[in-house]
Amino acid sequence: MRHFALGSIFLLASAQLGLAEIISVFVGGTALRFEPQSVTAQVGDIIRFSFRQKNHTVTQSSFEAPCQALPNGFNSGFVPVAADKTTDFQTAELLVRDTNPIWAYCRQGTHCTSGMVFAVNPGTQFPAFQAAATQGTPGSSRPPTASSTTSAPVPTGSSTNHLVTVGGPGILAFSPTNLLAQPGDTITFQFRQKNHTVTASSFESPCADLSASGQSGWDSGFKPVGDGTTDFPTYILKVNDSKPIWAYCKQGTHCSSAGMVFAANTDEKSSKNFAAFQALAKGSGSTTGYPPSQSSAAWRPSPSMAYFLGLFAVAFLL
Ligand SMILES: *[C@@H]1O[C@H](CO)[C@@H](O)[C@H](O)[C@H]1NC(C)=O
Ligand SMILES: *[C@@H]1O[C@H](CO)[C@@H](O)[C@H](O)[C@H]1NC(C)=O
Ligand SMILES: *[C@@H]1O[C@H](CO)[C@@H](O)[C@H](O)[C@H]1NC(C)=O
Repeated sequence: MRHFALGSIFLLASAQLGLAEIISVFVGGTALRFEPQSVTAQVGDIIRFSFRQKNHTVTQSSFEAPCQALPNGFNSGFVPVAADKTTDFQTAELLVRDTNPIWAYCRQGTHCTSGMVFAVNPGTQFPAFQAAATQGTPGSSRPPTASSTTSAPVPTGSSTNHLVTVGGPGILAFSPTNLLAQPGDTITFQFRQKNHTVTASSFESPCADLSASGQSGWDSGFKPVGDGTTDFPTYILKVNDSKPIWAYCKQGTHCSSAGMVFAANTDEKSSKNFAAFQALAKGSGSTTGYPPSQSSAAWRPSPSMAYFLGLFAVAFLL
């Protein structure tokens, strides 16, 4: 399934005026709704969706067709959550790249037509958007500030760009940690605070540079990012085939101690799944990457945040 596509990684200048906020939104749980149902966000803010009970999605739509996925829009995919789950809820993040409204819904069954819709910066248009969802009729008027820019298709037509943030204040992790991508897609790694890399490795040696073993690897190099920075450096990786992609952060013990690894296109049903890869990284204890026995993987089922959102920005984007 397609994960969230995103737009250009350039933040507008206004993002530099203040620190980005993380805005939490619950998806489902006790009711078939987003909570809150709409938010006001600044450019650079991150909407963090926390998936609660049942089986929901966060999928980008449009004001005119609230319950229809926008072509090339973001989509978390279905996130089933067991009724008795109380912790470790899966999250997905959406980076707000401009001040245009962003419209979204849950794709599950009749959730949208029951009113399970969500908006970022809807102005006064949220009630009309929700009414259009439940009545199945397009909104009577397009909000004046909604431009087609939020749905700007990626230049290549069908490929998707996946945004992955690297590090951040107090964070030694990639987010999301793993994802699915199609050949032709790109993955944009956006480097946050401290000084990280994203470097190709292998399942067997999670914390070792693949190119050091004579195979063809790739490496962003170190990307130091200061505390006050909002203009984050990036590294764009092209996805050439559907084989798994394994990677890690080369800095110090980020990989071997913190399990700072990333993967794409893993077979989660096989023994080479993301949790096993991360467990091998943490068990490796060194950067030489000798894998410990497979059994260590079983102790650490790490919740993989396989879903993330990006968002289209004005006039370009992936
Ligand atoms: C979640 O919903 C989707 C779409 O209805 C369905 O295909 C999938 O099997 C569901 N997953 C679970 C675990 O119920
Ligand atoms: C980033 O980390 C690398 C490797 O540890 C180091 O060589 C480099 O000097 C660091 N850069 C900054 C600005 O701290
Ligand atoms: C895909 O091919 C390009 C060009 O050869 C290369 O730079 C890139 O690293 C490859 N991607 C992966 C995931 O190996």
